[in-house]
Amino acid sequence: MTAQVAVIGGAGYIGSHTAMALESAGYELAVFDNLSTGHADFLRFGSHVVGDLHDPQALDAFFAARKIKTVMHFAACIDVGESVRDPAKYYRNNIANVVNLLDACHTYEVEQIIFSSTCATYGTPTVLPLTEDHPQYPVNPYGRTKLAVEWMLRDYAEAYGLNICSLRYFNAAGAAPHPLNPGIGERHSPETHLIPLALKAAGNPEKSLHLFGTDYDTRDGTCIRDYIHVCDLAEAHLLAMRYLESGGRRTAFNLGNGQGYSVREVLDCAQKVTGLPIRVIEAARRPGDPAVLVGDASRAAVELGWHPAYADLESIIQSAWDWELSESQRKSQGE
Ligand SMILES: NC(=O)c1ccc[n+]([C@@H]2O[C@H](COP(=O)([O-])OP(=O)(O)OC[C@H]3O[C@@H](n4cnc5c(N)ncnc54)[C@H](O)[C@@H]3O)[C@@H](O)[C@H]2O)c1
Repeated sequence: MTAQVAVIGGAGYIGSHTAMALESAGYELAVFDNLSTGHADFLRFGSHVVGDLHDPQALDAFFAARKIKTVMHFAACIDVGESVRDPAKYYRNNIANVVNLLDACHTYEVEQIIFSSTCATYGTPTVLPLTEDHPQYPVNPYGRTKLAVEWMLRDYAEAYGLNICSLRYFNAAGAAPHPLNPGIGERHSPETHLIPLALKAAGNPEKSLHLFGTDYDTRDGTCIRDYIHVCDLAEAHLLAMRYLESGGRRTAFNLGNGQGYSVREVLDCAQKVTGLPIRVIEAARRPGDPAVLVGDASRAAVELGWHPAYADLESIIQSAWDWELSESQRKSQGE
């Protein structure tokens, strides 16, 4: 049996882009996803099984049927606000269900696991840009669940000899660029991320964008974030897999561009790319939003050889806009 890569959560936004990158690079892959927030029409790469991490038998059948050498684990609940309102959902799916996955990895002698972690594990920065050695004190349940899995992975690695790596993404954005995009992009529901929300509001008099906080201690008073193109994230997973295969032992890498853009700068860029106005409603700060989150990804550059190809904000937003336009077309055709 040829060794395969398992993409857990591969029907979602980042997982589907990584599945595409794996297939383009010639890897055999299998997606496992319960389609809770993923999409059947994103299952375009490799084979797939619709199953839930909650179900050990479904996992067992998935692993027994193939030789999985590497697991890339994207499946999680990801809405920070929801994690505050309903932490049980997050502790159950993002932690308890991961025990099932890790047990299957141990049973079926998976060699390496690459985990989708997040800059939300750092909490409020004390030093910027954030390096991997910055203390991790997450300020919401979502971030705490992600940090707990980082710890679980280290313990499983230590005890069972698995090779593991947590990739701490900053703000994922964009979509596989046209004309090569096979029909995948950011389709979260409800959408909570700034760029897709801005693009959905562009030129639409019935929609507006809430700008939370205009009195931060930043250059224009709005929050500053580090946006990273989803295809660059996907590429980092392939590099991390090769790194672990060749004996690399770092357990965490930041994935960001190292450059921060304020909410107003993102909105200006979105208006420039679309040529359309975006109606903004200024609102109070949201609790738990740090003023600035910018990552130092030099460890990934040096040790993984990772260099983002779509580092500038305009190309990130252009690819997201092309995707939004194709989504509108899909909806108008009733697909
Ligand atoms: N989107 C971002 O900006 C961002 C930033 C940092 C980290 N992350 C992390 O990256 C990962 C992917 O995020 P995304 O934006 O692609 O989210 P997404 O919701 O688009 O994808 C998650 C996928 O996992 C699947 N899934 C969830 N629970 C499952 C379960 N119990 N069993 C099987 N499948 C399950 C969903 O159906 C979905 O296809 C998440 O782990 C998230 O925490 C995302």
